[in-house]
Amino acid sequence: MGAVSPTSAAISGKHAPKPAAWAHTEDYVPESPAGIAARAAATDLGLVPPSRGAAQTLTFLAKVLNAKAVVEIGTGAGVASLALLTGMAADGILTTIDAEVEYQNVARRVVATTGIRSQRLRTIAGPALTVLPKLSDGAYDLVLIAGEPLEAHEYLEQAIRLLRHGGVLVLHHAMLGGTVADPTNESDETLITREVIESIAEIEELTPVFWPVGDGLVAAVKS
Ligand SMILES: C[S@@+](CC[C@H](N)C(=O)[O-])C[C@H]1O[C@@H](n2cnc3c(N)ncnc32)[C@H](O)[C@@H]1O
Repeated sequence: MGAVSPTSAAISGKHAPKPAAWAHTEDYVPESPAGIAARAAATDLGLVPPSRGAAQTLTFLAKVLNAKAVVEIGTGAGVASLALLTGMAADGILTTIDAEVEYQNVARRVVATTGIRSQRLRTIAGPALTVLPKLSDGAYDLVLIAGEPLEAHEYLEQAIRLLRHGGVLVLHHAMLGGTVADPTNESDETLITREVIESIAEIEELTPVFWPVGDGLVAAVKS
């Protein structure tokens, strides 16, 4: 038998997570009716939203930060928008960007079914790399990166600029369906996601964590 590396030892043995255990964590907090509706709409549109556990992690982070100003790159059908708004301060504004205005209309309709005031959801339709440079430096408590994986380097640069000190960036789909941890996968999306995750770990002003929830969330707090 070969030597067991400290890494593999940490996730093996009697404490190794089983698929049923992962599913249990995802089901821990039930999703709201609006969250279920947004998830169904995302599936209909062929989008991949954050898992239930990942969405609840976003709610948790927004609550811990008492977030008043958040940027989301990639609105989709609004699963993460709803999760973020749920955790944010009661007067907090979520600025969410998507190239597809129809997706944002779906997200607006979902949020309208909740008690969340529509003015708290600021949707901007357009390419993220055109919109992001227009947003103010150091003005945001949290930035969620959930747009085009091939643009993730540019999103990271913008996220660091937008965050206040003590603000948190979150990269959605950080495991990219398992391809990020598969050294034989060298697709452009995988290589760029891997590079961005490495950068987040190496940038001195960021303190990172990689959470294996859903398809993976890498988060980092800015010093
Ligand atoms: C994975 S989905 C976002 C999921 C969403 N956050 C949710 O909670 O369901 C990715 C989204 O990014 C948008 N997108 C892709 N490329 C973009 C770009 N260059 N600029 C703006 N939005 C983009 C897509 O239209 C899509 O809605």
